[in-house]
Amino acid sequence: MSIAISQLHPIFVGEVSGIDLRRPLAPDEVAAIEAGMDRHAVLVFHGQDITDEQQIAFSRNFGEIENSAGGTVTRPEQKRLSALMNDVSNLGQDNRPLARDDRRRLFNLGNQLWHSDSSFRAVPAKYSLLSGRVVVDKGGNTEFADMRAAYDALDAETKAAVEDLVCEHSLMYSRGSLGFTELSAEEQAMFRPVRQRLVRTHPVTGRKSLYLASHAGTILGWPVPEARAFLRDLTEHATQPRFVFSHKWRQHDLVMWDNRQTMHRVRRFDDSLIRDMRRTTVAGDAPTVEQAEAA
Ligand code: OGA
Ligand code: MN
Repeated sequence: MSIAISQLHPIFVGEVSGIDLRRPLAPDEVAAIEAGMDRHAVLVFHGQDITDEQQIAFSRNFGEIENSAGGTVTRPEQKRLSALMNDVSNLGQDNRPLARDDRRRLFNLGNQLWHSDSSFRAVPAKYSLLSGRVVVDKGGNTEFADMRAAYDALDAETKAAVEDLVCEHSLMYSRGSLGFTELSAEEQAMFRPVRQRLVRTHPVTGRKSLYLASHAGTILGWPVPEARAFLRDLTEHATQPRFVFSHKWRQHDLVMWDNRQTMHRVRRFDDSLIRDMRRTTVAGDAPTVEQAEAA
């Protein structure tokens, strides 16, 4: 069995076959997946019935795992999964769907907004790996947008305008845009905005991409309403159907994406049903702005 990748969308997204993610990979398999990620930005693996430990081991082939602390309002003692896993399910510790008005559920609804994982961290994520342990039949697709293609399609004037812009990203902005505004002092400190360049260059391919997310709430040096209107406009451009792939989940799919080159969002589904999705996140290696964070 050897690894093969076929393209699922005209401009990005590959489907990988000939690999079993439960076992340790050979260096050439890891290299083939990395190369596939550089090229396709999203890879889909079907039929991967893995445990959390196997998912963590597979993820470690691509770098250090990002600690999930600081990215949620779920308190440590309420966590269903280990700190190396991001719980993207709609479940509480009892493995039952959270109540409609549960604060954790309302916070997680932010995943329905276009975003790039951990853009609210000073060193944002490289890859995300999402395993569908229990999926829903109707709705709940995860959509991806190719931010390289979105950048390429900007006119020259807009490319010049965005080139050196720096945004501030925070979970406060994405959740705030849904009306989730009540945060404790501790949460406010945890969600302190960080700076990110609006245009990123991929370290391997050299391709530029628009680094947008619903977490972006300001552009340095711009009045806030003007910045938000512009960011909305860019997001609308970047998420046109021609740049978007919609993944319909089958149980035991694992989907892996490059947060430096894509945005994603989950679509609505019946939240009284169990949707058990578990994510590992591979840490990035540097801030997108050279400048150190203001103390
Ligand atoms: C994520 C995420 C979308 C989904 O795991 O980062 O945004 O489909 N999940 O649950
Ligand atoms: Mn996400």
